[in-house]
Amino acid sequence: MKKTTICYLLGIEYPIIQGGMAWIANAELAAAVSNAGGLGLISPDAGMALNADRVEHLRSQLRKASSLTDKPFGVNLPLPVARVKELIDVVIQQRVSLVVTSMGDPMSYTYYLKDAGIKVLHVVASVKHATRAEACGVDAVIAEGCEAGGHIGFDELSTLVLVPQVVDAVKIPVIAAGGIADARGFIAALALGAEGVQMGTRFLASHQCLAHRNAKEAVVKASDMDTIVTCRKLSPRRTLRNEVTTRLTEMESAGASAHDIETFLGTGRVRKAEIDGDLVNGEVYCGAIVGMITEIVNAGEIVQSIVSASEAVMTRLNKLWS
Ligand SMILES: Cc1cc2nc3c(=O)[nH]c(=O)nc-3n(C[C@H](O)[C@H](O)[C@H](O)COP(=O)(O)O)c2cc1C
Repeated sequence: MKKTTICYLLGIEYPIIQGGMAWIANAELAAAVSNAGGLGLISPDAGMALNADRVEHLRSQLRKASSLTDKPFGVNLPLPVARVKELIDVVIQQRVSLVVTSMGDPMSYTYYLKDAGIKVLHVVASVKHATRAEACGVDAVIAEGCEAGGHIGFDELSTLVLVPQVVDAVKIPVIAAGGIADARGFIAALALGAEGVQMGTRFLASHQCLAHRNAKEAVVKASDMDTIVTCRKLSPRRTLRNEVTTRLTEMESAGASAHDIETFLGTGRVRKAEIDGDLVNGEVYCGAIVGMITEIVNAGEIVQSIVSASEAVMTRLNKLWS
């Protein structure tokens, strides 16, 4: 395939980004994706021990990734994360070329990052947030629909309706995220006007991702009905259904407040599932695409198979117009 604007912007071969995934988007995963021609992102807390210094942990993750690839890779920084300014300074010192910010106001650090020569992409879930991110000077937006695993927008717009509206509203490149796992989703995203895709759930079930084997196997076993959106009053997120989501649904139906939900969840439920493998008491962030994931494979193969299978998808589409 020919390169899109995102490929030139990020210095990559194929416009496929492995999204940040709290606790589990580690250096090995990011390097494998980047080596295959996509772009891998490291999450600052990936593989971090509970009492570790998160700034030093990120520094060691970045060194590790640099030792595994000479291709570009980036860092995902959810803006509310603790010590974000110090994390940004490590990113600058280690000469990382790209940061994907999410879950906060892009006004806070975009100029600081751009002054240091770093490309900034911001994750958005509405047209309003996309135009705001553009006004803040980001290089591209990632339009993430509510099919996505993990935190989603309050308005729950699907990728199919969100992406073309964002494409029409901004002049900067748009990357589609949410509900993409194979060549069909990839081509559909490009047809909607996106210049590339970001995927999370598909990469969770890869050998290089450090998620616990229980979480990966649960993803492989799950079918189309096995994810659910909870915490709509607090911070909506899509996860695998389990005992925790059953309790959350009961609480929400009974009118529990955001505070009650927050108290019930406490801290560390995602880490408990995705790192410790406790699928009863933890939360596995997971996208609605989960039913399409049937095996754990190498992260590089995910990129390569999307690119190679895209030709067959295009051939089928071309036949419809020939
Ligand atoms: C396990 C998991 C954890 C995630 N954590 C983060 C995160 O820390 N920061 C972020 O910006 N997005 C996060 N996401 C969203 C992904 O980066 C990506 O945008 C999303 O997974 C795309 O949708 P998909 O799951 O349908 O592929 C997470 C997704 C998953 C599945």
